[in-house]
Amino acid sequence: MLLKDLLEKYPKKEDQLIEVLLAYQNEKNDHYISKEEITEIATYLGVPESKVCSVLSFYTFFSDKPRGKHIIQVCKDVPCYVASDFDVVKTLEKELGIRVNETTKNGQFTLELTSCLGCCESAPVMRIDDKIYTHLSADKIKAILSEYKVTM
Ligand code: FES
Repeated sequence: MLLKDLLEKYPKKEDQLIEVLLAYQNEKNDHYISKEEITEIATYLGVPESKVCSVLSFYTFFSDKPRGKHIIQVCKDVPCYVASDFDVVKTLEKELGIRVNETTKNGQFTLELTSCLGCCESAPVMRIDDKIYTHLSADKIKAILSEYKVTM
């Protein structure tokens, strides 16, 4: 869907900003908001571009850089960190062949860090797209990734 068409579904009000950004980012295969799109959204809603940029940088679920088909976000907060008897990030980096904030060459996965996902009692935790995975182990991570690779 074109950004122009999506914007027409929303009232021209500042309080629509997060909803518009989420809706549009989810529409795009590369899951990010470009500089040109920031300008278009800011103009439509009548907010400064700096406001759009600050929202994009504040929330870890937004990005201003192209991302893969599936976005893997690992919780980096203390409860998850102390609950891990292995390194979640290093396991994912090894399995995917990329580092944090990189995308696999085939464009399937982007690996990111995030703050608390609200499931601390089930730590360690990661999210892939909209789905939360809890009580992670190295074997569980491999099994989860293989499900996604099968459905690519
Ligand atoms: S600290 Fe990781 S989910 Fe809350």
